[in-house]
Amino acid sequence: MVKVLFVCLGNICRSPLGESSFRQLVKNKGLSEFFEVDSAGTAGYHIGKKPDHRALEVLDDNDIKTNHLGRKLSIEDLDVFDHIAVMDEANFEYVHNMYHKAKGTPPPPEKLFLIRDFDPEVRGIQEVPDPYYEPKEVFEEVYQVLWRSNEALLIHLMGLHGIQLPEENSSEEPTPL
Ligand code: 4NP
Repeated sequence: MVKVLFVCLGNICRSPLGESSFRQLVKNKGLSEFFEVDSAGTAGYHIGKKPDHRALEVLDDNDIKTNHLGRKLSIEDLDVFDHIAVMDEANFEYVHNMYHKAKGTPPPPEKLFLIRDFDPEVRGIQEVPDPYYEPKEVFEEVYQVLWRSNEALLIHLMGLHGIQLPEENSSEEPTPL
């Protein structure tokens, strides 16, 4: 099981969108048995809360459901999750420092990275914009950024962990005539 955690500040806007869109992509490819996906925030302002209503609307517009409730990133998460995809530089620094302090060594790049490192359309800005004080259109933009970044992340992780698409798996063992 490959465990992927999405991290932002409040865990009510960006990281629930990252988590839900990645889970949907995994499901679409028939790979749910290989991945466990979750999200967390570096701040504890919204522990136990549902995602922001605008994030839920955008997910609903795309036929994606979530029952995630806000939670704060814990030290244990650093061990539990194989990959931690972070939304912006400030939260990257936070998780990087937390890891370094806890383990005495910086996190390897495969463990901790900015999700927009995988965005094929990135133009200089490596961050997913914080939509909290913005209109719903920014949540839609965030969703698009995360969807296309997650498509590339999924392909990368499939290669890294030797995970094949179900059709590729089944073609290895042709059904006897
Ligand atoms: P998120 O957005 O980090 O994408 O979940 C925010 C949510 C809440 C706050 C800031 C950003 N806040 O200040 O409460």
